[in-house]
Amino acid sequence: MEISADFLHKYNISGPRYTSYPPANFFNKGFTTSDYISALRASNQQKPANISLYIHIPFCPQRCHFCGCSTVIAQRKLVVERYIQALKTEMKLVSSLLDDSRRVTQIHWGGGTPNSISMIYIREIMDWVRTHFTINENAEIAMECSPAYLDYRHIDQLSEMGFNRISLGIQDFREDVLKVVNREVPRHPVKDVVNYLRDKGFKGINLDFIYGLPLQTPESFRHTIEQAIDIRPDRIVTFSYAHVPWVKEAQKQLETIGLPDANDKMNLFLQATAQLKEAGYCAIGIDHFTLPDDDLTKAYTNKQLHRNFQGYCTLETTGQVYAFGSSSISQLWGAYAQNYKEIAKYMESVEACGTAIERGYKLSKSEQIVRAVINCIMCNGLLNLVEIASEFGLSIHELKELLSFDPSRFDDFIEDGLMNLDNNEIHLTEKGFLCARNIAMALDPALKTGEGIYSRTV
Ligand SMILES: C[S@@+](CC[C@H](N)C(=O)[O-])C[C@H]1O[C@@H](n2cnc3c(N)ncnc32)[C@H](O)[C@@H]1O
Ligand code: SF4
Repeated sequence: MEISADFLHKYNISGPRYTSYPPANFFNKGFTTSDYISALRASNQQKPANISLYIHIPFCPQRCHFCGCSTVIAQRKLVVERYIQALKTEMKLVSSLLDDSRRVTQIHWGGGTPNSISMIYIREIMDWVRTHFTINENAEIAMECSPAYLDYRHIDQLSEMGFNRISLGIQDFREDVLKVVNREVPRHPVKDVVNYLRDKGFKGINLDFIYGLPLQTPESFRHTIEQAIDIRPDRIVTFSYAHVPWVKEAQKQLETIGLPDANDKMNLFLQATAQLKEAGYCAIGIDHFTLPDDDLTKAYTNKQLHRNFQGYCTLETTGQVYAFGSSSISQLWGAYAQNYKEIAKYMESVEACGTAIERGYKLSKSEQIVRAVINCIMCNGLLNLVEIASEFGLSIHELKELLSFDPSRFDDFIEDGLMNLDNNEIHLTEKGFLCARNIAMALDPALKTGEGIYSRTV
């Protein structure tokens, strides 16, 4: 696939990532704890089959300068212990509002770096989860880990606790790249760690990479991806570096070293895509590559891929997400609810009232429909308007009106080979997936635009 500088100039604009619809900048402080409690109760009737739990551990031993996540650095033991207690309090309250018959099919630990805290705390929380929720026998229990702090004995302990999925944040195999972004190198060879995880029965093993970091060149990144292919994890994610220095102050330090420009960055991605496909990986959704027999590949092939704030998942296992911990976002059918980002505020609030809602958003029926439309584009690259209309009991005319659907908005996309539009069906091409955010924007009736709100779309 060839991407010209003109193409990038045209499509690399500022826009939402659509990890949620409406995007997180719509969340507001008018959404209160009582709204959250009502949404929790209502969620028992809305798509009740599965429950997904998200547990946020914000702690990291040091800050990677590229990091866009919600983290706090090097906290004292007393703070971590207080945080663990707050998590338990929050879980107890939420579980008391959910129907006992509902089953947990997914538990995701993210951060921060969950594996940087003592395994004693992780076990304490897992025991608590088992006491307060009913876990499905084959639930996916996952943790995002940094290999800088991961030992084989930790893997043994996680396996004993029931963990069966792990994602390792690699970012780049080059030590000079890791050094300039202030990141520790893996403690053990990643290939040995992945083999060990496999022997322990972990599935869907994932490695995260980022392209667009300082010092990355086509040659260096080709070598990094070659190493990834040699390790052969089930999943590889190549995240486009999201540069948002107006939110993440530490990212400014990368500007002083020098970041690849949009053209160089795109070439890193295209080169990685070609290498991974050549090696037998399937490109699914945005930035994700999976082995043919992985669950996510099957879900993508069957157009059953789904997405939440934790990443891609299969529609079969995912449910509404009940989130715990600072900055975490519950994704319910009718509302999003986000906890305080600052851990002190989070802990104080939970200690006072059992919850820690800072802001959120109640979705109208119309927004629930637009969410389904945007998800079709972002996950499966296929939108059938007739199917969506029938799912929500609308005529095709009503659906188009709700979306302010204007076919002329797609003329450029079609002309540039990004998508097809036939019989009320939008189908993204391989090149079109690079611009999925742009195409989703053309279907978003409430789009807010402007530089400095969002990262770049390509
Ligand atoms: C919570 S971290 C993963 C676990 C662990 N903290 C680590 O770094 O290994 C989640 C992932 O987000 C990605 N990430 C973080 N900041 C990013 C940014 N600014 N742009 C794109 N991806 C980013 C990284 O690939 C990282 O592995
Ligand atoms: S990338 Fe991971 S380890 Fe680095 S600061 Fe962010 S959350 Fe922590």
